[in-house]
Amino acid sequence: MRSFLKTKTAIALALSVTAGSAVADGHGGVEVLHWWTSGGEAAALNVLKDDLEAQGIAWTDMPVAGGGGEQAMTVLRARVTAGNAPTAVQGLGFDIIDWANQGALANLNDVAAAEGWDDVIPAALQQFAKVDGEWVSAPVNVHSTNWVWANKSVLDANGIAVPETWEDFAAALETLSAAGVTPIAHGGQPWQDATVFDAVAMSALGPDGYRSAFIDLDPEALGSDAMKEAFDRMAVIRANVDDNFSGRDWNLATAMVINGEAGFQMMGDWAKGEFLNAGEVPGEDFLCFRFPGTQDQVTFNADQFMMFDQGGNVSAEQAALATAILSPSFQSAFNVVKGSVPARTDVSDADFDACGKQGMADLAAAAESGNLFGSVAHGHANEASVKNAIYDVVTAHFNGEFDSETAVDELVTAVEIAQ
Ligand code: BGC
Repeated sequence: MRSFLKTKTAIALALSVTAGSAVADGHGGVEVLHWWTSGGEAAALNVLKDDLEAQGIAWTDMPVAGGGGEQAMTVLRARVTAGNAPTAVQGLGFDIIDWANQGALANLNDVAAAEGWDDVIPAALQQFAKVDGEWVSAPVNVHSTNWVWANKSVLDANGIAVPETWEDFAAALETLSAAGVTPIAHGGQPWQDATVFDAVAMSALGPDGYRSAFIDLDPEALGSDAMKEAFDRMAVIRANVDDNFSGRDWNLATAMVINGEAGFQMMGDWAKGEFLNAGEVPGEDFLCFRFPGTQDQVTFNADQFMMFDQGGNVSAEQAALATAILSPSFQSAFNVVKGSVPARTDVSDADFDACGKQGMADLAAAAESGNLFGSVAHGHANEASVKNAIYDVVTAHFNGEFDSETAVDELVTAVEIAQ
């Protein structure tokens, strides 16, 4: 009920903002719908806003809070149905393909050809940015979800080294719990539960199992013993969050690690933006490492901006926005602040901190070795219906409605029905 009300409020807000906006039709400026509302995300968004405003292009901001973008997509559907699509919209993976198939997106082929996108945007992103040979969105970055963020002094004070295996991690959680520190900062929202599940499932299933279960949707892999192990590990995570986890926003969970109230957060690398925004330094104040047992894999999601067809060709402002997004200097400046890594393969890592450098190296290595997989939680493994079916089971299990065995059975059934 609460999230329904939130959604209704978001839609009302969206419609009222649009009604009062002089640039909502795309002429003279851009109206940008996105879910970058935390401190770190807003700082990154400002890099893009400033870039456009320096070119004389007015920016109308249309923020809709909610990681994973579910609420933003609800607002977007209402806007499109009302015949009033925003100029540019943050989108993820299969959602982009869906909007392109509905004929809602402007064709960016001219911009892409002029800027040589085919040569510099990696295949993993092109599969979501190009539909039937047409460029339909501009990739901003590459995030990945199988990261852990840790408070360094909390770990040092408790004699905890960076865990290499699931067993090491489970032991570290016990140590922190015994010391009276919340082991894991978590926000109980379905997309956050699912973000944790990306990494936990990868650790339990391994890359082949992850591919079979979540990319190929093979019922045997979905119903395997390894999947039960994944849910058993989720139950261990659940036992190590604080009592107030329910409904907490992800950035407030990050703040718990920053403040030393909690040891770890399992979250995508947008969490790094919060540490940086708080003036923290990687390696000194906080640590970043791949979730134990997934050191060779990357579960990724890429933010892209879809340019909604405003009736005719891509507008000059949309083309300028797309060009700005893919410029090498913007790719470095933005991603340094956002916590993600560039969507181009030819950007230097010189300006990135240690976590960013590792992110870039891990991404290149995983792409090379075949260990780069779309994130289930962030819409890069499946279309929305399957993603939501997985969310439901993961969250019900996390909240104790199902034991692990039941969760496995429910997962097989839910995925089958959702296809
Ligand atoms: C997006 C990130 C964003 C995060 C939390 C993810 O779905 O890809 O850019 O920072 O949600 O809002």
